[in-house]
Amino acid sequence: MAKERTLSIIKPDAVGKNVIGEIYSRFEKAGLSIVAAKMVQLTDESAGGFYAEHKERGFFKDLIAFMTSGPVMVQVLEGEGAVAKNRELMGATNPAEAAAGTIRADFAVSIDANAVHGSDSEQSAAREIAYFFKAEEICPRS
Ligand code: PPS
Repeated sequence: MAKERTLSIIKPDAVGKNVIGEIYSRFEKAGLSIVAAKMVQLTDESAGGFYAEHKERGFFKDLIAFMTSGPVMVQVLEGEGAVAKNRELMGATNPAEAAAGTIRADFAVSIDANAVHGSDSEQSAAREIAYFFKAEEICPRS
């Protein structure tokens, strides 16, 4: 499987629970390396731009309100099959449906406060990574 990058966000609920380190540990144990990271307080504008594809969805307002409710930790994960591997670690969007042992099963409480975001394709990953990071802020592993 080819080496890929994906964008991961640890959402305000998980940052508030002080589990950034536990979530990073799951990424690293699964063979994903953190090659860029920053803590950000999103605004209506920056969160709205990131989730622009969901603008017409009924939950958009709630999603933006939640994502701006506190700081988020944003990182680029690199490794073989990084997009799929991260989504496997995350579990289903709705924590009630997330498999046991996944990040959302262990740390999330509801479909809106669901602990983490992960790019859903290589194409989304490229757009989402560029949304948060300049090329020189990413430090690939050899
Ligand atoms: S889709 O159709 O598969 O793209 O949508 P989905 O992945 O289910 O959801 C996209 C993001 O919206 C969040 N979401 C919600 N937020 C607030 N309230 C409700 N009801 C709700 N439903 C979905 C969901 O957590 C996804 O966020 P990200 O950050 O992309 O995981």
